[in-house]
Amino acid sequence: MYLKRLELTNFRNFLSQDIEPGLFFNIFTGKNAQGKTNILEAIYLCCTGKSFRTVKEKEIINWNADFSTIYCLLETSVREFELKVLLSPGQKKIMVNGTLARGYPLKWPGVVLFTPGDLVIVKGSPQERRHFFDSEIGPFKAQYGFELNQYQRVLIQRNNLLREIRDKRLKNESLQVWNEQLCRYGSKIITMRLELLKRFGPVVQKLFRELTGGMEKIDIRYLSSLKINQLSTEREIYNQFNDHLTSVKQQEIERAQSLIGPHRDDLAFIIDGNDARIYGSQGQQRTVILALKIAQIKMWHIETGEYPILLLDDVLFELDRVRQDALFDQAGGAVQVFITSTESSNININHSYVKKLYTVSKGKII
Ligand SMILES: Nc1ncnc2c1ncn2[C@@H]1O[C@H](COP(=O)(O)OP(=O)(O)OP(=O)(O)O)[C@@H](O)[C@H]1O
Ligand SMILES: [Mg+2]
Repeated sequence: MYLKRLELTNFRNFLSQDIEPGLFFNIFTGKNAQGKTNILEAIYLCCTGKSFRTVKEKEIINWNADFSTIYCLLETSVREFELKVLLSPGQKKIMVNGTLARGYPLKWPGVVLFTPGDLVIVKGSPQERRHFFDSEIGPFKAQYGFELNQYQRVLIQRNNLLREIRDKRLKNESLQVWNEQLCRYGSKIITMRLELLKRFGPVVQKLFRELTGGMEKIDIRYLSSLKINQLSTEREIYNQFNDHLTSVKQQEIERAQSLIGPHRDDLAFIIDGNDARIYGSQGQQRTVILALKIAQIKMWHIETGEYPILLLDDVLFELDRVRQDALFDQAGGAVQVFITSTESSNININHSYVKKLYTVSKGKII
């Protein structure tokens, strides 16, 4: 998929801007705080319906304006179409060819984003890894987002109920119906996660081997708060979950919290037998992220027949030559890439792919 044209109106510090990006590499350089990341945010927002920087969408509207629009003209292998986002305080409309869209306007994310903050996927808390999985891997299964919402809704209700029981306003028995719901959606989520890992894991493994010149091996493991193994069926997970709830019941009431389930699970990236979170070097941790991102590009291509657009915010030139080249080899000639950097001196893409260079200064692209 290619972005052929982008028009911004009152989008952050861009009052009125249009560009016609090139195929393959589009490089935006400029000093800090000029608007480079804002451009990536605009593309991401159009394709996914959400910003990657804020949930308060009114922050996006230029300070001196009362609305903002982003227009994207996109081309896939089969058609050309328009995406438009209209923002006003408290309102967001996303249109695909003039028709109102809900959820993902494209039915799939359409972009893969890599920012310096992504290192938390390896280094951060389990919550960061769950967030990564739910937002970047979950969309490979159509039902995942819906089932996850159901689970989270049940979780909130059940935690409220645990508080009521602890404070003696309700009897223990009232928990049963919520336990069933929790196990039902929870076992679905875990089953889907295991299935997704079965598809995603080998792609990451192969890439990781290539990125390390065949020297290192990675395994992604699902660490569950339930005693399940990676081959458990949905029914087995349901039963395990249900049994385990009985044993933690008292603790859950005392703490008024649901203590087990997919909302407590984690992933581990194991490099040659050691957890990369604890033992990985900076370079190894970056390589994990790079493999996770390129794997998404490959998987989306398999799923949809289209390559997503790749957005690299301030990360490319922090990778060493070997990893930069690996990225170009994987993406070059097929994926449209938007790259930002404060440095123009270290841009040294000596591949023969078409590239366009832009300078960003005070909300203007030159
Ligand atoms: N709603 C808004 N209205 C006007 N300006 C805004 C708005 N939101 C953010 N900005 C401005 O946009 C600029 C930041 O843009 P951006 O994050 O794209 O910078 P950048 O070029 O990526 O910088 P860096 O190299 O530091 O990452 C800041 O100057 C900020 O004040
Ligand atoms: Mg930036």
